[in-house]
Amino acid sequence: MKVDVALVPAAGRGTRMRPATNAIPKALLTVVDRPSIQWVVEEAARAGVTEVVVVVDPDGGAIIERHFDESRFLPGLSGVKVRAVIQEEAKGLGHAVLAGREAIGLRPFFVMLADDLVRPGEELLSHLARAADLDTSVVYVRRLPDGMLGAKGVVVPGSGLSDSVMEIEGAVEKPGAGAPSNYAIHGRYLFVPEVFDHLTGVAPGYGGEIQLTDAVDSLARAGRCRAYVADVELLDVGNPLGYLRANTVLGLADPAYRDAYRSIVDDLLVE
Ligand code: UTP
Repeated sequence: MKVDVALVPAAGRGTRMRPATNAIPKALLTVVDRPSIQWVVEEAARAGVTEVVVVVDPDGGAIIERHFDESRFLPGLSGVKVRAVIQEEAKGLGHAVLAGREAIGLRPFFVMLADDLVRPGEELLSHLARAADLDTSVVYVRRLPDGMLGAKGVVVPGSGLSDSVMEIEGAVEKPGAGAPSNYAIHGRYLFVPEVFDHLTGVAPGYGGEIQLTDAVDSLARAGRCRAYVADVELLDVGNPLGYLRANTVLGLADPAYRDAYRSIVDDLLVE
């Protein structure tokens, strides 16, 4: 399936990153040498996306759009238009995706969480696009140990379609003990537009929020959702330790900083 638009929800409260997020949107916090959302937009561009719709809170839109202003030179992003839409209130990830309905229209689209970064060279979106048929949605899942399932959405596996693609029959947000499987949903999705109808029917769920996982559950129960299974780690920059780790991993992966940075880290570790 060809997908040329991505939706990036970035309107969460960012409470785990306070006080850094008191005045600055979390998506603009620097990772190595650029805002975290730029890493995500670059990943989208590598997969052929030409338009990125960022869902922002009422204060965050202008500053994020300004960063991606076409007149500014951002290598690799000249063919990508970034625009913001507003989520008036942070009522959950599903609610944020629904805020993008008008901007997305009737196109298939990726959802990419701005907190979750891939290493350069790692590829998920093109695999999601290959896993979809004409009218099914696809979620990226990775196997996690039992103890980590309480923090994620977890799918109910259905029949396998290949080594890395399976049908799913349902999904549960943060199930913890009693999870239906070890396949946890991780920050990348491909949706066909019918997801918006499913989202409209979703009531507040886990934490009182409109959960995207509940819309995935609804799609899956209707036989219209697949999972792409892989072992690609997403670097979570939404909490301080994950943020530090992501800076180190991506800093050490960057040829411009790698050697000098490695010697800094080595020196610190022997102290
Ligand atoms: P998180 O729950 O991880 O982010 O949402 P958060 O709410 O910003 O973080 P904390 O828990 O307060 O620290 C996952 C993604 O969904 C977006 C967030 O911006 C993040 O990228 N999100 C979440 C929205 O856009 N709107 C919401 O109402 C909730």
